[in-house]
Amino acid sequence: MIYLRAIHPSDRKSLREELFFKLSPESLRNRFFGLKLDLTPGELSYFTDVDFLHHVALVAEVDCCAHRRLVGVGRFVRGNRKSEHAEVAITVIDDFQGMGIGSLLLQQLIDCARQLGVVQFEGSMLAQNSRMAKLLHKTRLPCRSSRESGVVSMSLDLRRQAA
Ligand SMILES: CC(C)(COP(=O)(O)OP(=O)(O)OC[C@H]1O[C@@H](n2cnc3c(N)ncnc32)[C@H](O)[C@@H]1OP(=O)(O)O)[C@@H](O)C(=O)NCCC(=O)NCCS
Repeated sequence: MIYLRAIHPSDRKSLREELFFKLSPESLRNRFFGLKLDLTPGELSYFTDVDFLHHVALVAEVDCCAHRRLVGVGRFVRGNRKSEHAEVAITVIDDFQGMGIGSLLLQQLIDCARQLGVVQFEGSMLAQNSRMAKLLHKTRLPCRSSRESGVVSMSLDLRRQAA
């Protein structure tokens, strides 16, 4: 069973220990565009203490040895609280990739975004990150992309329902 819920400031420790430290070098590169050894206290606050208007973040958990283990996180950040455009990012730990968790997080983020009046998701990914590209295409929403210096910028139109 996979559980999705809103992120909470108390997730700092699990975000760092159960998710960040469990990412392979490839996943870290895909998420942060470079190798990253740790999250700073400031980054942990930024990632977990969100206002759900300008910055919305959800976590995915699974049952593990009598507790819930954090295995994925997805977020979108708007330019400001009223912006119709938001930058989306999703991360699932390697051991749980390919099980549909990224798709679940993305769908839930799309639902939240629509309720807040967001009409476009934007995302930047390394050109070789075919998994994230597939994830966006799988929504079957209109998707535009452009490529520059090994980075693909994609935008997803949330106004339409899936084709
Ligand atoms: C991109 C990412 C979020 C996808 O999450 P996920 O939970 O693996 O996604 P899903 O299981 O919903 O799979 C989506 C599609 O990706 C592909 N995919 C996912 N994992 C894969 C794997 N291990 N091998 C091959 N293809 C894979 C599949 O084609 C799948 O489509 P399908 O259901 O038709 O088979 C995850 O790979 C990840 O966290 N990567 C590292 C961080 C990153 O790149 N984030 C994106 C930039 S912000």
